[in-house]
Amino acid sequence: MNRVEKSGMEIQQEPIIIRVTEEYHIPKTRHSVKFLAETLGFKQIIVFYIMTSVSELAYNLFFHTDKGGTITLVPLIREDNVGIEVIAQDEGPGIDDIDLAMTDGFTTNRGLGGGLPGVKRLMDEFEIQSEPGLGSRITARKWKIWQ
Ligand SMILES: Nc1ncnc2c1ncn2[C@@H]1O[C@H](COP(=O)(O)OP(=O)(O)O)[C@@H](O)[C@H]1O
Ligand SMILES: [Mg+2]
Repeated sequence: MNRVEKSGMEIQQEPIIIRVTEEYHIPKTRHSVKFLAETLGFKQIIVFYIMTSVSELAYNLFFHTDKGGTITLVPLIREDNVGIEVIAQDEGPGIDDIDLAMTDGFTTNRGLGGGLPGVKRLMDEFEIQSEPGLGSRITARKWKIWQ
């Protein structure tokens, strides 16, 4: 397995892929990212931000698509920085109007509408690619140096 040493500790570098098709998969994504973020040495408050972001994205896979999707967690190990990339991907209905979906309080499925804008606020980098009828891919990153 491809691993690096950081402060005497071995850090996993492979992406972790979690399928989200059942409701109980949502807490599973939270636990996985908690473990990864703590291993990478994020402060506890930032670990919580990342966990919240991942569960919002996992909720969306479960509630806004028919077949669910995947959450991929990628450890980002750089010479001078360490981060986590979270990718939520699905082949669901897609998002018609991304600006509207990013508006606080907007929901099409009786949610609170705070998920996507919340993830954008909690993470350092955020991007949505979505094609109506084909699916969505939401990528968010958090870096340690900016915490
Ligand atoms: N993976 C997705 N596929 C299709 N639509 C999505 C997806 N994620 C979010 N959306 C759309 O964006 C809206 C806003 O999402 P969010 O801010 O998480 O609020 P909520 O989940 O409470 O509705 C959702 O109501 C839905 O219409
Ligand atoms: Mg949501």
